[in-house]
Amino acid sequence: MKAIHIFANGGPEVLEWVDVPLPAPGPGEVRIRHTAIGLNFSDINVRSGGFYVTEGTKFPITLGNEAAGVVESLGAGVSGFRVGERVAYVGTGGLFFENTGAYAEQRNVAAGCLVRLPDDISDQQAAAMLLKGLTAAVIVHRCFRPGPGDTVLIHAAASGVGSLLAQWCHALGATVIGTVGSAAKAEFARAHGCDHTILYRQDDFVAETRKLAPDGVAAVYDGVGKDTFVRSFDVVRPFGALVNYGNASGPVQPFPLILLAQKGCLVLHRPGFGWYANTTESRQQACDELFDMVRRGQLQVEICATYPLKDVAQAHRAVEAGRTTGSVVLIP
Ligand SMILES: NC(=O)c1ccc[n+]([C@@H]2O[C@H](COP(=O)([O-])OP(=O)(O)OC[C@H]3O[C@@H](n4cnc5c(N)ncnc54)[C@H](OP(=O)(O)O)[C@@H]3O)[C@@H](O)[C@H]2O)c1
Repeated sequence: MKAIHIFANGGPEVLEWVDVPLPAPGPGEVRIRHTAIGLNFSDINVRSGGFYVTEGTKFPITLGNEAAGVVESLGAGVSGFRVGERVAYVGTGGLFFENTGAYAEQRNVAAGCLVRLPDDISDQQAAAMLLKGLTAAVIVHRCFRPGPGDTVLIHAAASGVGSLLAQWCHALGATVIGTVGSAAKAEFARAHGCDHTILYRQDDFVAETRKLAPDGVAAVYDGVGKDTFVRSFDVVRPFGALVNYGNASGPVQPFPLILLAQKGCLVLHRPGFGWYANTTESRQQACDELFDMVRRGQLQVEICATYPLKDVAQAHRAVEAGRTTGSVVLIP
């Protein structure tokens, strides 16, 4: 079968379309023929290197944490799945940068990691939303859940995670302010949960947020990191929450803990989706919650572009340059 391998860390040029053997599924494993693969920002970080693991990386690496597809064959001892069934997975055990392998035509995955896909959720929708949606879920269920009367600020609100989170907060009754990098993204964000948008590359987001929420916001949800996180302290109301879940602009730099007290006894969260819903049953339940929200029209999953898997380098360039809105899906 064909897969994308990297033999060294680097730019998009290190992504190579190669022939690789795939053994029969082992005991407890299911072979899946991928039909849609989710592209996540973490794929770019793993490709570039030095972000999660600084030494001892073993190559080649097949990137990718999530995909949807069809069951091709079953390893010994697998019950509960049948050949031809539609399934998806998001993470396959371990930390998300340790156990990648979705950038491939097929993959053997432990049966316990699989999620069943209902008929009304397409493969592309699943690949576009599971990892990003579970990230939004861990934030609203475990970090800070806004309600009516709360105003929240979401950085990069037109992004994959940001746009799902904005819609979720909106569905919970919160007033949602979103920062975005362009006028087109502002329009997209307003159609996906945001009541207000701020062009944070041209306007000062602290001043603009304070105009909209003079007493401060209940929470900031930040997937941008280096460029936004510490300044976000200045827009949170006393005892409010700061949630940093990502680092699209680079990692948050160390800061003195006392800052949390000086800025109003803020509560700090740094969630990771992999710690949430990480058993077979809880994962299926968490994904079913997302599917229900899609069905009810509370979450619109927007796929801004699909790319053939072999052209993934182009997709990485677009995401890395911040040119995308919503999700990008790779088609094997
Ligand atoms: N904690 C977790 O479990 C978890 C799970 C999923 C994702 N994440 C992390 O969350 C972050 C966002 O993920 P996502 O899927 O929403 O990403 P995405 O859809 O690719 O969006 C990233 C957005 O960040 C903004 N951005 C700001 N500075 C940037 C820079 N220097 N380079 C590129 N983009 C920049 C851009 O939007 P604007 O043009 O509007 O500025 C860009 O479109 C990533 O760091 C990702 O690794 C964490």
